Amino acid sequence: MNRRPENVTAFIAIAETLFRSEKLPEAGRIVAARVFERLQTPSDDGARHHTRYPACDWLDAALAPFIDEDTGFGAAARALKALEPDLGWSRRSSGENGSENYIDAHVHGMICGPGGAESRYDVQLGFSLMLPHVRYPDHSHPPEEAYVLFTPGEFRQNGGAWFDPGIGGGIHNVRNNPHAMRSGAVPFLAMWTLLTKTDD
Ligand SMILES: [Fe+2]
Repeated sequence: MNRRPENVTAFIAIAETLFRSEKLPEAGRIVAARVFERLQTPSDDGARHHTRYPACDWLDAALAPFIDEDTGFGAAARALKALEPDLGWSRRSSGENGSENYIDAHVHGMICGPGGAESRYDVQLGFSLMLPHVRYPDHSHPPEEAYVLFTPGEFRQNGGAWFDPGIGGGIHNVRNNPHAMRSGAVPFLAMWTLLTKTDD
């Protein structure tokens, strides 16, 4: 399919700007640039994972601190809210070192990727939402990945020290790099993008 709904187009444009930030590691900006190059061509097989999970109800609370701001994050929050009925939802239920509550206390929303608002398999563009005081399990995946943090929160890579890259900052994961994330006193929201089919 070659047509793309306006709410998807709007979110992609805002996300592209946020992934270009100098606050991201350079390798993260590079992988994101390759994703957005692919996203210039719409592609949608129509699969939709619309089933919601308990943590979906925290989307508004996570976006509330910045949804009215005249910033890239404010624009992203409003664009995400506009996409809510079209998002693909999923959650993880396996992995080491997750906090006891993590399964019901997190959810992933897919914009572009399998089952998302634009269901495709060459890239993923989505976000993770966690309630306060949640530690997501250690995980890794073959595709290279970049994250951008929308809220306070911490990451850990390769069993190293936890760190908060700051709002607008993020991390870059090389292929199969173990990583985890955790929230503090407020809900956590981070956007991620993966290059799921490599062409090199
Ligand atoms: Fe990841």
